[in-house]
Order: sequence, then structure tokens, then C-alpha cells
Amino acid sequence: ARTAAVIPAAGRGVRLGPGAPKALRTLGGTPMLIHAVRALAASRAVSLVVVVAPPDGAVEVKSLLAAHALPERTDFVVVPGGASRQESVRLGLDALPPEYDVVLVHDAARPLVPVDTVDAVIEAVRDGAPAVVPALPPSDTVKEVTPAAAPGAPEPVVATPDRSRLRAVQTPQGFDRQVLTRAHAEVTENVTDDASMVEQLGLTVVVVPGHEEAFKVTRPLDLVLAEAVLARRRL
Ligand code: CTP
Ligand code: MG
Repeated sequence: ARTAAVIPAAGRGVRLGPGAPKALRTLGGTPMLIHAVRALAASRAVSLVVVVAPPDGAVEVKSLLAAHALPERTDFVVVPGGASRQESVRLGLDALPPEYDVVLVHDAARPLVPVDTVDAVIEAVRDGAPAVVPALPPSDTVKEVTPAAAPGAPEPVVATPDRSRLRAVQTPQGFDRQVLTRAHAEVTENVTDDASMVEQLGLTVVVVPGHEEAFKVTRPLDLVLAEAVLARRRL
């Protein structure tokens, strides 16, 4: 089985606040996207990384990849992304050569995922699961509410799902390539992760243990945490 990784990196990063597109912001002096590319290319199973760049940033991303040390055994392709994460992933899948039969989809916004998590996802796909997601039990109790019409207004609670049955999902998510391609062709509803599209096809998605360091950089405080994790690694 040949394995490729698609890295959607085309988002603006609105929740992080004003500045460059999120994937191009630096952590420890290196763009977040480069950390994410290195994290996936660190797996010996990954022989191709497709980076989905901001729509007008493909040239800049290509020169960033050329300017940073990356494993020789890995090929890199850059394509421009779209208006939604879902569209960006589909554009990345369209760029995959036919010989790849396992595909990982990994957020550029999760720059610090450990290689052991990447390898565990790949192994579960190679063992026959059509879709695999790394996830952790949530540390907070989660409530379902009726969302407020106005921001900040009190929101009535509808239910409190049993926390022991909940998992907070991360990336890389791993797929049988044909399954994910079909999901992206057939599911039109907007979703926030790729595995849920496979669920909509009626196929079983399995969860494997995620990792704390695979957290997503979403808000400014996440940058503080990411810098601290990097500094700890460099000790
Ligand atoms: N992404 C993408 N194309 C989009 C939107 C998002 O490739 N049109 C990517 C982001 O670059 C990121 C990943 O999807 O690596 C996860 O998305 P998220 O964390 O929501 O990033 P942004 O959409 O950039 O952030 P925000 O929602 O705060 O604007
Ligand atoms: Mg987003």
C-alpha cells in the first residue's frame, strides 16, 4: 500500500485574529505549515505530501517548502485551495497520482502531531478499516444547547451526553483512498471533518488513541501552548 498525506492549509485563521493566513504564521521561527509537513513526512510510510495552499499563495508555499529541510524520500506537491476546508481537501485529493491507495488528511493547524499517532492511523487503515480517526476523551463535560439568536444571550440546555462515550477528534484522519474520494463526490452537506462524510456513506469509522500534542491551533492561547510544547521538545 502506498500512502499519501493531504494537508489543507488554505484557511485564513479568522479565530486567531488579524495577520497572515494561519498556516504561514510561525512557531519557534518556522511556519506552522512546515512543522505540519515535517510531522507527516516523518512517517516512513508517507511517500507523498500534497499541500493545499491559500488560494493565492501556492507560489509562496512552494518556495517555503524549497527553503526548508525536508526528507529526501518524500515527494511534495502544492495546489491552491478553496473557500471551505471540504473544498480544499477535495482539490488536494484531485492532485493524487493513481498509485496511492491510502490517504491521510491532516490540518496544517495541528503542527505538533507526534509521528507515533500518524503511524497508528496508517496501520489501522492498512489493517482494513476504511476510515480511521485519532481522538481523545474530552476533558470537559459537553452540553447540547439551543443556540442563542444573539451572541452572548443565555442558551437553554437540551441534553448532556454521557461523557464516557464522547471523543474529541483530531487529525491525521486516514482513509482507503477510494472511500474518501467517493465521500467527497457524493456528500454535499457541509461538514467539519472528513470521517463524518464516510459515516454518511454508511461505512464504519473507527477511533484510535489521539495525542495531546495533536491539538489544533485555533485561538491566540493555542499559539502560547504550541510555543511551549516546541520549547520543551528543544530542551
Ligand atoms: N482550511 C483549508 N481551506 C479552507 C478553510 C480551512 O484548507 N477554506 C484548513 C485550514 O488551513 C486548517 C484546517 O483546514 O489547516 C482546519 O481549519 P481551521 O482550524 O478552521 O482553520 P481556518 O479555517 O484557517 O481558521 P478559522 O476557522 O478560524 O478561520
Ligand atoms: Mg475554519
